[in-house]
Amino acid sequence: MITQNGPTVIAQDVVIATNPSILDIGLFFAKSYPQRSYLVGGHIDANRAPQGMYIGVGEGYRSIRTTPSDDGGLLLLVGGEGHKVGQDDATDERYQRLEDFLRDHFGVEPAYRWSSQDYKSFDKLPYIGKLTLTHQHTYVATGFSLWGMTKSVIAGMVLSDAILGRKNPWADLYDATRPTPLVTKASVQQNLDVGSHWVGDRFKGLFDSTDSVNSGDGKLVTHKGAQVAAYRDDNGQLHAVSAVCPHLGCIVAWNQAEKSWDCPCHGSRFSCNGKILHGPTVKPLEQKVCH
Ligand code: FES
Repeated sequence: MITQNGPTVIAQDVVIATNPSILDIGLFFAKSYPQRSYLVGGHIDANRAPQGMYIGVGEGYRSIRTTPSDDGGLLLLVGGEGHKVGQDDATDERYQRLEDFLRDHFGVEPAYRWSSQDYKSFDKLPYIGKLTLTHQHTYVATGFSLWGMTKSVIAGMVLSDAILGRKNPWADLYDATRPTPLVTKASVQQNLDVGSHWVGDRFKGLFDSTDSVNSGDGKLVTHKGAQVAAYRDDNGQLHAVSAVCPHLGCIVAWNQAEKSWDCPCHGSRFSCNGKILHGPTVKPLEQKVCH
């Protein structure tokens, strides 16, 4: 492998462990879908903190747990508000709802917030094993479906056994080349979503110009006939990049909470300047100059 800025790296076995696989050849982007979720935290007295870890189910679920903080105290963490990447305009309201929950149920003032994303496979099992049937020394671990702390450990066990030629009792279950169920509710919905975004999003911002982008906001606009993703920073300066995701050509959407451009098709994410934040893309958004 030739690295972008440095030397050539030679290895007999390679593991692609990049959350979504950055190699499209295994089609994992089409066998899973990206889901963002949110977490807020605040300091809580140990004698008022919940004693266990809790997770809800269904729409509006919350997960609740504590973790030690750097100052020797305790943080109460509340997570939830998951949604498909790039398919919600009001991402900042999701943080707000979690913060309200923290205050209303525990009287805790929020001090921290995070969000991240993971890929859910259609059969809810991770893909761990050879990249394709013809790859004998290239492996993948992806589709952890929000259970990365558990499934990454499983991946480490299965893949180390595979590379060392040892039998692993779970290898067949997680086999990354297993047939993927194509007609589940989730897979049909995902393919419909991708198709409708690929076509329908090309008309977004058709009648908007860069003048309509407010400070602190991002918006799809049209400039010289091209669809542009434009962000105006708090100093009024405009940052313009192509709205076309370099992965497979879908149109990115603005994420107000993270100030990023997110692709609704397979979850690639870019900074407001177009730099890569998250794969599967391996290329940034093209820079645009708008005067
Ligand atoms: S991530 Fe696949 S088209 Fe954008």
